[in-house]
Amino acid sequence: MGFFARGLNLALGAAALAAVTSVPALAQSPIPQLVEQNGRHALMVDGAPFTILGAQVNNSSNYPAPLAEAWPAVHHIGANTVQVPIAWEQLEPVEGQFDFSFVDHLVQEARRNDVRLVILWFATWKNTAPKYAPAWVKLNPARFPHLIQKDGTESYAMSPYGAETLAADARAFAALMRHIRQIDERQRTVIMVQPENEVGTYGSVRDYSPAAQAAFDGPVPQALLDRTGKAAGTWSAVFGDEAEEFFHAWSIAAYVNTVTEAGKREYPLPMYVNAALTDPITRVSPTNYASGGPVWPVLDVWKAAAPSIDLLAPDIYDRGSVSYEGTLGRYARPDNALFVAETGNDPSFGRFLFSTLGRGGVGYSAFGIDYTGYANWPLGAKTVTPETLTPLKTAYAVVRPWAHVWARAAWEGRVWGVSEPDDRSEQKIDLGDWTARVRYRLWQFGLPEWTWLGEQGPASGTENPNGGVVVAQLDDPNVFFVSGLHARVDFDAKPSTDGKRRMVVRYEEGHFDDAGKWVFERIWNGDQVDYGLNFTDRPRLLRVVTATY
Ligand code: DGJ
Repeated sequence: MGFFARGLNLALGAAALAAVTSVPALAQSPIPQLVEQNGRHALMVDGAPFTILGAQVNNSSNYPAPLAEAWPAVHHIGANTVQVPIAWEQLEPVEGQFDFSFVDHLVQEARRNDVRLVILWFATWKNTAPKYAPAWVKLNPARFPHLIQKDGTESYAMSPYGAETLAADARAFAALMRHIRQIDERQRTVIMVQPENEVGTYGSVRDYSPAAQAAFDGPVPQALLDRTGKAAGTWSAVFGDEAEEFFHAWSIAAYVNTVTEAGKREYPLPMYVNAALTDPITRVSPTNYASGGPVWPVLDVWKAAAPSIDLLAPDIYDRGSVSYEGTLGRYARPDNALFVAETGNDPSFGRFLFSTLGRGGVGYSAFGIDYTGYANWPLGAKTVTPETLTPLKTAYAVVRPWAHVWARAAWEGRVWGVSEPDDRSEQKIDLGDWTARVRYRLWQFGLPEWTWLGEQGPASGTENPNGGVVVAQLDDPNVFFVSGLHARVDFDAKPSTDGKRRMVVRYEEGHFDDAGKWVFERIWNGDQVDYGLNFTDRPRLLRVVTATY
């Protein structure tokens, strides 16, 4: 069946794909899972922790021709996972008739390109609007109602109290998940799914439709009372000024939870919901963001209302380092795995991979990774070309060769990472008996205080902040693995408390093989260590062996 034929025969589509891709001898690998222990998280893929170095294609690249223009960009940056939308309108153009041809094509193409997939379900909400819903939904507001605003007018957004909308969305999503299971439960190319996209409502804090009003006048659900430790009462009585905002978050979260449950009943892959963000530092009014979405002030509401959702993920497009780190801090919680579901693709963003992973994040994904000619400036690069994506490629190259080792260290809680701040100030990483001091804009040789040589100026290639460092430890507490970009790292022993002295005995450069075994290449000494470990735009992995004597 040709992919342009828009065939509606789902049985044939599934069978055809199974025939092409199923390998009878291939053992079934365990289903991907998001796991937690002691407040740390891992995305398990093929039974082992996995770090997503992601690429999200542009919104309308969910057809074969534009998808073909994604692969060169995906390979250029070295992503191991690709996020691609599946739109409700393309899956169910006629009610009850499903077209899985693009899903089949996508899974085959991902396998051919040796990457994993995260499927994005664009349905009732896509950037809060129902634009990706099929025409039969959009044209029938009596059956699929819009949210009603305080003044009685209709919003552009759908009501989370539209029972038929919920049923139809959940049915379509279940069909999608059933199909993915049919074609992929052996190979597990699809590792995670995002139901909806940037849910919430701009312009109205909540829904004022009669159904919504009745719920708002009713009691706060027990699950939320349990989570917040509040006594029973109506929304206004329990949450006061925050009642409308919390109520809307609950309403949308409960809806998405039902959609998620319907999908998981068919195929229980990890599922997450992404957020259009609010200010991470200052608490602002819900009139200033997409009310109802999983922003930090309502994360507990979402956790209570949507237990089927494995994690809540930020979409980070603010380039400011204080804001970026603030958002990472809001979402990296013992009860929430950090996953940067989307971030900008221009050179200023790549470095935030390091602090994301250092905080134990399970992944990071840049948005707009294809050569279709579309660019989402001012959120990302002005043009998307190999040249503009190279800083991202370089950041991924710091981690990609040992991502399998890194993911295990992260799961065991022995990773650290920092990204260069906008003010270029030095950072200190607390490594127990050691401190890693990270400085930026220095040349590889010498000290900045050597003024007798004249003004040295900042190192070339550091005109804009683009540095960062990652550190991991495996089984040996005396050994650190260190890498980074555009940064100088000094290992300083903390003052001894046991009367013993400490030193670094060896700095080895090398790599990990596929089995996770360290492969020695050379020792760094002399100029290469006398002035710290200097990382440029050529990623190097170092094994730092410390000793006590
Ligand atoms: C965030 C959304 O989730 C994406 O789908 C996309 O619209 C970007 N914003 C902007 O390009």
